[in-house]
Amino acid sequence: MSLLKLHDLYFKPYIHKDEISAIVKRLATEVKADLPKGETPLFIGILNGCFLFVADFVRAFKGECEISFVKLASYEGTSSTETVKELVGINEDLTGRTVIILEDIIDTGNTLQEIYTIFKDKNLKQLKIVTLFFKPEVYRKELPIDYIGKNIEDKFIVGYGLDYNSLGRNSSAIHQLTPTPKMKNIVLFGPPGAGKGTQAEFLKEMYHLVHISTGDVFRYNIKNQTELGLLAKKYMDEGDLVPDEVTINMLKAEVDKNTDANGFIFDGFPRTQSQAEALDAFLAEKGEQINGMVALEVTEDILITRLLERGKTSGRADDTDEAKIRNRFNEYNTKTAILKEYFDAQDKYYGINGIGSIEDITKRISEVFNTL
Ligand code: IMP
Ligand code: MG
Repeated sequence: MSLLKLHDLYFKPYIHKDEISAIVKRLATEVKADLPKGETPLFIGILNGCFLFVADFVRAFKGECEISFVKLASYEGTSSTETVKELVGINEDLTGRTVIILEDIIDTGNTLQEIYTIFKDKNLKQLKIVTLFFKPEVYRKELPIDYIGKNIEDKFIVGYGLDYNSLGRNSSAIHQLTPTPKMKNIVLFGPPGAGKGTQAEFLKEMYHLVHISTGDVFRYNIKNQTELGLLAKKYMDEGDLVPDEVTINMLKAEVDKNTDANGFIFDGFPRTQSQAEALDAFLAEKGEQINGMVALEVTEDILITRLLERGKTSGRADDTDEAKIRNRFNEYNTKTAILKEYFDAQDKYYGINGIGSIEDITKRISEVFNTL
């Protein structure tokens, strides 16, 4: 789950879709259990926000029922307006019926009051109210609410049908309003030898960012025989890849060490889609996000020349042998390049020509950085 931007505002993950699903099932079961045998309820959803809730609720409801919708808008922007508009959509005779209102969220209770008023003179057998979410701190009415899915704090939420100025309804999880992110977080991307490390050194000074190179962190931890280093080495000695979980935890620890950072340059991470998802989720919890993936694009022939050159002085065993280098490219092309699609799908991929002088490339990158 990542940060959501709708219009001018940011929303962070708040309630996972699995939790919503469990709540909806529980509500459907409770409502069914309280109904007299043989009673066919009429479920009325209050549009627009309820459409996903109703769709899931009625499928979880085991028994005969009728379903209808009414429209009654009451919100503008992120604060409840006092004026509740009129109800559209109920034409049938409701005399003697058990009507169960399905609401996505009850906030001040203005809408609920309107519902009670409208149904008062319809000669119902009974009227019950089900709401998926309820904000107890702002509720200002005495009116009964028969079933509450989840009490939430008084913060604006979106997703699962709920909107902010018409956007966000199609998110399957609930997100909560959060301040505009403060950090600039960049994933520096590119095949081995593309110049990521070199460029990161310049960029971290220019933008006051913390540079985290997972390769360097691994090598440091192994050299200093830290707990993490020993764990990582155990896998490496067996010829296994260090599992994502170990890498992710190491990275989280590095981020948490730098609480007052302006942002981070991630270099060598994420390497797989699941690492990218974990990084997104980790930052989103903090109300932060990846601003962009900046990728240095260099042809393989140039890279091999560069790496062999570096191998003469770097002391890195993986830089001296062309076969090993080719193997790393293969690894990069088959696994890591998938990340290009991942960030591209979020409109966050920026490809940069990585051939030229160091200064020219820094300049190209900083033109992108300035827009992020
Ligand atoms: P109330 O009349 O103040 O109880 O507000 C009820 C209506 O306001 C709901 O049906 C929603 O349409 C909208 N609303 C209240 N709180 C939120 C929120 O946090 N996110 C999105 N819509 C909300
Ligand atoms: Mg509503």
